[in-house]
Amino acid sequence: MDISQRLQQTINDLVDDRRGILAADESAPTIKKRFDAINLESTEENRRAYRSLLLETPGLGEFLSGVILFEETLGQKNAAGTPLAEVAWKQKIVPGIKVDKGTEKLVGAPGDLITKGLDGLADRLMTYIEQGARFAKWREVYPITATNPTALGLHANAERLAHYAATCQELGVVPIVEPEVLMDGKHDIERCEEITEGVLYAVFQALRQYGVILEQMILKPNMVKPNMVLPGKDCRTADPGEIADATIRVFRRTVPAAVPSINFLSGGQSPEEATINLNAINQIGGPWQLSISYGRALQQPVLEAWQGKAENIEAAESALLKRARLNALARQGRYNPGMETD
Ligand code: 13P
Repeated sequence: MDISQRLQQTINDLVDDRRGILAADESAPTIKKRFDAINLESTEENRRAYRSLLLETPGLGEFLSGVILFEETLGQKNAAGTPLAEVAWKQKIVPGIKVDKGTEKLVGAPGDLITKGLDGLADRLMTYIEQGARFAKWREVYPITATNPTALGLHANAERLAHYAATCQELGVVPIVEPEVLMDGKHDIERCEEITEGVLYAVFQALRQYGVILEQMILKPNMVKPNMVLPGKDCRTADPGEIADATIRVFRRTVPAAVPSINFLSGGQSPEEATINLNAINQIGGPWQLSISYGRALQQPVLEAWQGKAENIEAAESALLKRARLNALARQGRYNPGMETD
């Protein structure tokens, strides 16, 4: 297969109208935080055991088409000695890899961030390909304040995402392009919509400049939602219909129909909230597949059920299968919260 065929095969294996992607690519400090919450030490063996559990869940391939792994996991094996990337692909779950190296302050733009990791990226990708990775993920982060993101922030982050994506495609690796507008802080839905539109506009402009093939990439954005806790009787959780309207409106303005799939991050929403909102978004729909690339919203119930104990593996697997299945229904706009207790 030549490079273009390889890219297309990976897109075909990742994108359909039902399945989604699991983000299991927590860096060492992040997985430590997740394990701390269940009083489990973050040792290499515990991380291996946990990620084996995720990938060995029977039937998971029915609902998930891809998994994003952390570098360490790509080099790990299950108890039977099979590399975890192979374990995933046995279920037709395509293994991918997070390739960015986290964020630092963006010089010249107080309050903005920029993501590290472009140096030596092509060499690292070649190693990951040998280890079985077929797609990659890179995340740029945009905090919202009264003055952020700045014009420089929009430009510099978009540039980096495009440089990364072009580097991946040159080597036959499908890039997941993740511009994450942070849901933290206080902002209303209008502000989130305005920022997300500017971010995506800049990202697609840069992708074009770098010659990125839109048909052979995946976009991983946040949903457009408010983040305000209002006091007293004004307090309301965001309405899924309102979130879906704003989210689709922004995409229609900025994301070309050539992009095959948009896979949301969960960004701190509860598992149920993330599923309800995905369902509302799919009830509107668009020219792209509208799917998931959830981390916390798929894994939180799994960690709670597992608690680091071998005797809980079955309960943990069914917690994962349940969330994956309900999100597959939400992909079709056929989910309702009553299904949580079925
Ligand atoms: P969450 O779904 O937990 O936001 O994580 C997805 C992810 O990969 C963020 O980079």
